[in-house]
Amino acid sequence: MNLLSFWYFVVMYQPVSFAEKFARFAETFQPKVVAQMNDVQFKLVRVEGDFVWHSHPETDEAFLVIEGMLAIDFRDGRVELQPGELFVVPRGKEHKPFAAGETKILLIEPAGTQNTGDAGGAMTAPMDVWI
Ligand code: NI
Repeated sequence: MNLLSFWYFVVMYQPVSFAEKFARFAETFQPKVVAQMNDVQFKLVRVEGDFVWHSHPETDEAFLVIEGMLAIDFRDGRVELQPGELFVVPRGKEHKPFAAGETKILLIEPAGTQNTGDAGGAMTAPMDVWI
């Protein structure tokens, strides 16, 4: 293996470390893109307190809890997610995430999905922020 191919190997085959990525930011409700597969992005986000009621008319939205505990309220019920648990919110379903303490989440959704969906408002975060 010559130096060029060794360097290529080192650069191209790095895993995405959630711990390392989470260490890069502290703000809540500001999703950061860490990977993309076809048109689907993997976003890390810290959640604490109440988010806003919203829906995503164009897409489902997957939540995977990494650390902490996340509740997702619906108009007709609630799901509570522990670390290692996944839930997919159906397209168009109104939902409101909530975490009593700081919680680390992986979101899986198409590129261009706004965090506040059709609600907009002050908690709307910039899209496509890669870390
Ligand atoms: Ni949502």
